Amino acid sequence: MDILKKIQDHREQEEELKWEGTFSEYLELLKERPYLAQSAHSRVYNMIKSAGVVEEHDHKRYKFFDEDIYGLDEAMEKLVEEYFHPAARRLDVRKRILLLMGPVSGGKSTLVNLLKRGMEQYTHTEEGAVFAIKGCPMHEDPLHLVPNHLRKDFEEEYGIRIEGSLSPLNTMRVETEYGGRIEDVLVERVFFSEDKRTGIGTFSPSDPKSQDIADLTGSIDFSTIAQYGSESDPRAYRFDGELNKANRGIMEFQEMLKCDEKFLWHLLSLTQEGNFKAGRFALISADELIVAHTNEAEYRSFIANKKNEALHSRMIVMPVPYNLKVSQEERIYEKMIRESDIKNVHIAPHTLRVAAMFTILTRLKESKKANVDVLKKMRLYDGEILEGFSDVDVEELKKEHADEGMSGIDPRYVINRISSTIIKKELTSINALDVLRSLKDGLGSHASISNEDKDRYLDFISLARKEYDEIAKKEVQKAFVYSYEESAVTLMDNYLDNVEAYCNKAKLRDPLTGEELNPDERLMRSIEEQIGVSENAKKAFREEILIRISAYARKGKKFDYQSHERLREAIQKKLFADLKDVVKITTSTKTPDEQQLKKINEVVATLVDEHGYTSSSANELLKYVGSLLNR
Ligand SMILES: Nc1ncnc2c1ncn2[C@@H]1O[C@H](COP(=O)(O)OP(=O)(O)OP(=O)(O)O)[C@@H](O)[C@H]1O
Ligand SMILES: [Mg+2]
Repeated sequence: MDILKKIQDHREQEEELKWEGTFSEYLELLKERPYLAQSAHSRVYNMIKSAGVVEEHDHKRYKFFDEDIYGLDEAMEKLVEEYFHPAARRLDVRKRILLLMGPVSGGKSTLVNLLKRGMEQYTHTEEGAVFAIKGCPMHEDPLHLVPNHLRKDFEEEYGIRIEGSLSPLNTMRVETEYGGRIEDVLVERVFFSEDKRTGIGTFSPSDPKSQDIADLTGSIDFSTIAQYGSESDPRAYRFDGELNKANRGIMEFQEMLKCDEKFLWHLLSLTQEGNFKAGRFALISADELIVAHTNEAEYRSFIANKKNEALHSRMIVMPVPYNLKVSQEERIYEKMIRESDIKNVHIAPHTLRVAAMFTILTRLKESKKANVDVLKKMRLYDGEILEGFSDVDVEELKKEHADEGMSGIDPRYVINRISSTIIKKELTSINALDVLRSLKDGLGSHASISNEDKDRYLDFISLARKEYDEIAKKEVQKAFVYSYEESAVTLMDNYLDNVEAYCNKAKLRDPLTGEELNPDERLMRSIEEQIGVSENAKKAFREEILIRISAYARKGKKFDYQSHERLREAIQKKLFADLKDVVKITTSTKTPDEQQLKKINEVVATLVDEHGYTSSSANELLKYVGSLLNR
C-alpha cells in the first residue's frame, strides 16, 4: 500500500472516531461506559496493561515496554507495581511527581517517549478514549460541569467520583455561551498529540532569567484585553502553558532538578491539591501525570539542599538502571545502529556481542560469593545455565548490591566509538577486534571515568578479548568439520552404542560384516579424556549417561547431543582435537598448496553461507585464528 493511501486511511479513521454531543448525551455514554471518566493515571496504567502481561516465575513482564526497552523487565515491573498501579487506584502516590533516576543513556528518555507515544495511540482506542469540553484549551473534563452540591448524587447514580472544579474560563463560557444550561454544553472526543499540543506536554528549562513562567501556566493575551476590558477576564488569557496542554495526559519535565525554583513551586500545589495558579484567576484543576528524569549525582545534590525538602517529599523516585544482560545489550546496539547512518556497514558476527560483554562487565559489582567471578556472574545474569547454580542463586546475586547497574559504560559511548572508527578509517566492515581496540583507545578521553575505573576497564577489555578468542576458534573449527552437526551426531551415536554395550556387558555387531565386537574402549576414552573423566570415574560417567537416556525416554523426550552438557563438550572437543593440526596448518600457511587452498575456500564459503560473514571478514577471521593457534 502506498504511503499516500495510508495517510488518507488514517485521516478517515480519525474522522470516524470523532464524536460530538451535548453534556447530557455524554452522560448517556458514561452510563454504558463509566471507564471513560477515568483519571490520567488510570488511563496510563490501563494502556500499559492492555498490551499484555506475562507471568514468568515470580515476576510479571509488561509487554508494553518490550519493543523499545530491553533487559529492564524488573525495573519496569517495579515501576508499574509501585507507581502506575497504585496511582491508577487513586492512592497517594498519584499526587507525587514520578522521578526516573538512572545513569546517562540508560533509557530514561526512551521510556518517557514510549509512554507519550503510547498515550497518543491509546486515545484512539475504545478503552482509552478521552472526552472534553468542546473548545476548551485545556480539554477540561466535562464532569467538572456538575456543580459541587450535586456531586454526591451524581456519584450515587453513576458510581463515579468527580474531582476538581470547573475552570474560570469554562465557568464564564457556561454563562455567556450556554446561558447557564450545563446540559447543553458541547462535549467532544479528543485525541492526544504532542504535535498538536493536546494531552501531552514537555517542559525543558532554559536560562532562568529569560524563561517565563508563561511556558508552564500560560499568559495574558494582550491583543484581546481591549475587547474584554480586563486582565482578569479569563477570555483575555491564553491557557497554553505546558501544564495546561498536558491536562488529562502526561507532562514530561526535562532536567527538572536543574530548573529554577520558581517553576517548581507550581508543581507543589499541582501534585498535592490537583490544581495550579495561573494569572489572576482562581485555582485551575488539572489531572496529569508528571514525569521527570535525573541522574544519581544530580539527585543527591538536590536532596542535600534543605530548601528542596517540600518538593522532595512530593516525588517518588524510581530507578532506571542499565541493562545487565549481554544478549539484551546486543539488541540495544542493533537498534541504535539501525537508527544510525552506519547501518550499511558490515558488522562481523559476534562483534556487538563482544562489545556488550565488555560493557556489562563494567556495570557489574563483584560478588561476595567465592565461586562467582565477574565472568560467571555475567553469564548467569544472561540466563546461561551453569553447573552448580540454580535460579535461586541468581536471585541472591541480584540482591547483593542494590546499586548495581547504576554505573559503568553507557550504550551511547559504544555506538559512538563504533561509528567514529568506521568513519575515520573509512571501513566497509568492522569486527570485534576493531571495536575492542576503539573502546580501549577512547577510555582516556571519556569524561566521567576515573583513573581507578580505567584500570579495571582495561582488564575487562582483555577479558572480553579472551572470550572473543574462544568464540573465534570455535567458529573456525566448526566450519572446518564437514557438516559439523552431522559429524557431532554420528560421533555421539557411536559413543552411546559403545557405552550401552559396555554397561550391559554386551557385544556390538559390525553393521557390515555382522561380526561381534567388544565395546571400543579406545574410542570411548578418547572422548571422555577431553573433559577429564579419569579411568576410575569412567564407569560412573557412562552409567550416568545411560540413566539420563532412560529418564528422557520415560518422558517421551528425545536424547540428542545437546541433552548432556558435558557430553556435548566432550564431543565438540574431540572433533576439534582431531582437526587441530589441519586447522592450524591450513589457517597459518603463507603459501597454501592446492588442497589447502580448496579447504580454505570451503571454510570461507561455510562462514559466509551459514554464519553471516562476508568473504573478507571470513578471511580476516581465519587469519586471526591461525595466529591464535600458533601462539
Ligand atoms: N535498556 C535499554 N533498552 C533499549 N534501549 C536503550 C536502553 N538503554 C539505553 N538505550 C538506548 O540508548 C540510547 C540513549 O537512551 P536515552 O536517551 O533514552 O537515555 P537517557 O537515560 O535519557 O540518557 P540521558 O541521561 O543522557 O538523558 C537510546 O538510543 C536508547 O534507545
Ligand atoms: Mg534523556
